[in-house]
Amino acid sequence: MSAEKLVVIGQGYVGLPLAMRAVEAGLDVVGLDVDSDRVKRLASGESFVEDIPADRLGRALGTGRYRPSTEYADAEGFDVCVITVPTPLRDGTPDLSYVEQAGIGIGPHVRPGCAVVLESTTYPGTTEELLRPLLESASGLRSPGDFHLGYSPERIDPGNPTWRLENTPKVVSGVDPAALARVDEFYRRIVARTVPVTSTRVAELTKLIENTFRQVNIALINELTMLSHHLGIDVWQAIEAAETKPFGFMPFRPGPGVGGHCLPIDPCYLSWQVKRRLGRQFRFIELANDVNHEMPEHVTHRIMAGLNRTGRAVSGARLLLLGLAYKKNTGDMRDSPAVEVARQLCDLGAEVRAAEPYAEPHHVPGGVLVVQLSEAEVAAADAVIVVTDHDVFDYDMVTRCARYVFDTRNRCSGPMVERL
Ligand SMILES: NC(=O)c1ccc[n+]([C@@H]2O[C@H](COP(=O)([O-])OP(=O)(O)OC[C@H]3O[C@@H](n4cnc5c(N)ncnc54)[C@H](O)[C@@H]3O)[C@@H](O)[C@H]2O)c1
Repeated sequence: MSAEKLVVIGQGYVGLPLAMRAVEAGLDVVGLDVDSDRVKRLASGESFVEDIPADRLGRALGTGRYRPSTEYADAEGFDVCVITVPTPLRDGTPDLSYVEQAGIGIGPHVRPGCAVVLESTTYPGTTEELLRPLLESASGLRSPGDFHLGYSPERIDPGNPTWRLENTPKVVSGVDPAALARVDEFYRRIVARTVPVTSTRVAELTKLIENTFRQVNIALINELTMLSHHLGIDVWQAIEAAETKPFGFMPFRPGPGVGGHCLPIDPCYLSWQVKRRLGRQFRFIELANDVNHEMPEHVTHRIMAGLNRTGRAVSGARLLLLGLAYKKNTGDMRDSPAVEVARQLCDLGAEVRAAEPYAEPHHVPGGVLVVQLSEAEVAAADAVIVVTDHDVFDYDMVTRCARYVFDTRNRCSGPMVERL
């Protein structure tokens, strides 16, 4: 019997790990992506997702059961198709054009008994209101009835060595009980535990609850951090003390702001829908967005004030940023607050250098020189700013050699260190 055929549409941070895992589970996988350069690199064994080392990709290619492709024709005869394309915001409005394009591309290959699952983060209702009609009109088939349709949010946490795709519980759903059973059966081959829910809308909302919860709590602690600074209280110590409470408290840490493809965007999908459907504001999200947006500017002001205390102006100062990515141990600079801090410091006339071992050169803001972290670089800087706390950085060396450290991540300590 031939292996089940899976098509994963989108070979990015979400789609590539899923494709690799599915090959390891014995499936025959086509990794579809419209980015021909990305597909070429994948076919030659080059991974751009840190969590997928080249040797893992090489092993998948070596089985002959992983085929990166730009051609929707290669989806023909699929059993399961998972859609993992971007869902960005355009001027505050959800941009579902990638999901639409994926639906239009895969629709003609939908056949009786197959399953299509959306994983892209989106507002409740997308699977049934937007994707289903596209698939039905392109295939002439119906769901429920002829083919299965479901939604399963992705919880992948890039750079997290503990919680990976296969050991993180996966919420699964379908448009009817038969679709749910089929989607659940598929994911049980991929992950250790599935969490079935009774509708695609519940599954879509689950993802938005998770990310809104993080966005709101990060904002809460960021606002407390700014206020504590003005009150002259060490917020980091207070958080550490609070987290000794064994129940009813979950610690969140302050930082220079939020970035990436999820936190600044996903909650806005929910507030957009609440506005559109109910004509109401989702006030927590609006407030959280405001506070988190404020953070890069707060960091810049604190650096200016810190330099001022040492008798230096920010204009003309040589500054070394540690990290440009929005998240530690990754090179993902999408909407990174570190990039925003770098831009603001450049605009103020500073000479900005950045140590970013995972740098994607095309995302480095103009005017910023990427350097290797070394004693000489640290010693030559008027200020070292810890923005992204990659584990590979030698924080002891930084603390020893720097004249002044502004630490947004609580990784350094000593008399020359000022924490956010
Ligand atoms: N990155 C994360 O940590 C994460 C976590 C959970 C959920 N998500 C969600 O998963 C989705 C994908 O995110 P990502 O980070 O993997 O994005 P990504 O940009 O890394 O990858 C998406 C890929 O889809 C491709 N693509 C776009 N349109 C296509 C089409 N019509 N056909 C085929 N390929 C197409 C792009 O070229 C790109 O390679 C988003 O909705 C995101 O919100 C992301």
